[in-house]
Amino acid sequence: MSNKMWGGRFSEGPDAIMEEINASIDFDKILYAQDIAGSKAHVRMLAQQDIVSADDAKAIEQGLDTIAGEIEAGTFTFSRALEDIHMNVESRLAELLGPSAGRLHTARSRNDQVATDFRLWVRETLDGLDDQLGGLQHAFAFKAVEFSSAVMPGFTHLQSAQPVTFGHHMLAYVEMLSRDRGRIQDARKRMNESPLGAAALAGTSFPIDRHMTAESLGFDRPTANSLDSVSDRDFALEALSAASICAVHLSRFAEELVIWSSAQFRFVKLSDKFSTGSSIMPQKRNPDAAELVRAKAGRIIGAMNALLIVMKGLPLTYSKDMQEDKEQTFDALQNLSLCVAAMTGMVGDLEPNLKELKKAAGSGYSTATDLADWLVRSLDMPFRNAHHVTGTLVGMASDRNIELHRLSLEDMQSVEPKITEDVFSVLSVDKSVRSRTSYGGTSPVNVKKQARSWLKTLEKE
Ligand code: ARG
Repeated sequence: MSNKMWGGRFSEGPDAIMEEINASIDFDKILYAQDIAGSKAHVRMLAQQDIVSADDAKAIEQGLDTIAGEIEAGTFTFSRALEDIHMNVESRLAELLGPSAGRLHTARSRNDQVATDFRLWVRETLDGLDDQLGGLQHAFAFKAVEFSSAVMPGFTHLQSAQPVTFGHHMLAYVEMLSRDRGRIQDARKRMNESPLGAAALAGTSFPIDRHMTAESLGFDRPTANSLDSVSDRDFALEALSAASICAVHLSRFAEELVIWSSAQFRFVKLSDKFSTGSSIMPQKRNPDAAELVRAKAGRIIGAMNALLIVMKGLPLTYSKDMQEDKEQTFDALQNLSLCVAAMTGMVGDLEPNLKELKKAAGSGYSTATDLADWLVRSLDMPFRNAHHVTGTLVGMASDRNIELHRLSLEDMQSVEPKITEDVFSVLSVDKSVRSRTSYGGTSPVNVKKQARSWLKTLEKE
């Protein structure tokens, strides 16, 4: 049997394989709410413009509500033969109302319909992510206040560099997430135009009011060019790009959690809720949630690449290639949301091991820069000379396998005779972090102030 929605000029139905490659209903049914909202806005406008009668419009709206109820109750039968969500809904509407249901599709095509539905879904999902990321920022900022003066090693090249505060490290992620949210909000702003009424590609001869439908669907305005409206998916690409960057940020903290929770580091304890055991090794507490967040960045970036490649070189306007936009976008954004939720749980439950952190903060000659700075400040030595003197002292300590502050004053003076007892005052990790009061620096005072101000901002949202 040929397709009842568009089969007028067809004498045969599709091959089974055609149906399988062509149908999108298995994944686009999640657009049902957006599809129904778009249709209701459209038919209301058609009635207002006297393109359909008020009675037909009312019946269509009621029919659409019935269908939404059926889908939500799980009693709706989705059909692959009807290809996608748009035709599944419309076909059911015809069953409910008879031929008058067919008036809904006046001055509309599936091309502008799907562009509208998909934009609505992406917009809603971005809003949800933005909120969720605010929650994750809050979890980080909360830890930052709590551990604003806890020292830990700061790393470059994963080698001990300089002591920092745990709170400062938490706030680094609050900043990253704030830019992620900025990108999401920015993408949302740019995508918030309604393609509905662009019809197949050229617009329509019916006297539609695109401003009305745009407004009723919460868009800022209608899109200005009908060809562009049905042929671009840059809004999804921007969403995926913002999502990818955010996923990369999350993957970095995930990796730190994996390292920090290892028996070799013992910097933090992850809660039981976000760890798993091993079926053979009873001692194990594996950071599975963190590992999965780390891995899912790959999947999200993959989705962005996949959609970029689908769109690359596509001539205007709509091509069926574009049906491949959805699975990737749904999967990527849903997985990012899951990652943010898991990360929020892990951060909230995170217990830093202050003793280990402090021990590690002092190892690896992490206060060598403080010693060099002392030489500059107290002896008026040029920094390059101070660097050299300090390097010699680090070498001496390292040969003896001791920490810098374990060298005696005589040892120090054998390298630089003008060094005084006062030098020991800068070699402790607490002093080191306390001295880093430059704007954005790691001192507990800075960190506490910033963390509190973040909490205040986030709690107002
Ligand atoms: N399921 C289709 C998609 O996702 C809807 C648009 C179909 N348009 C068309 N001209 N065949 O892209």
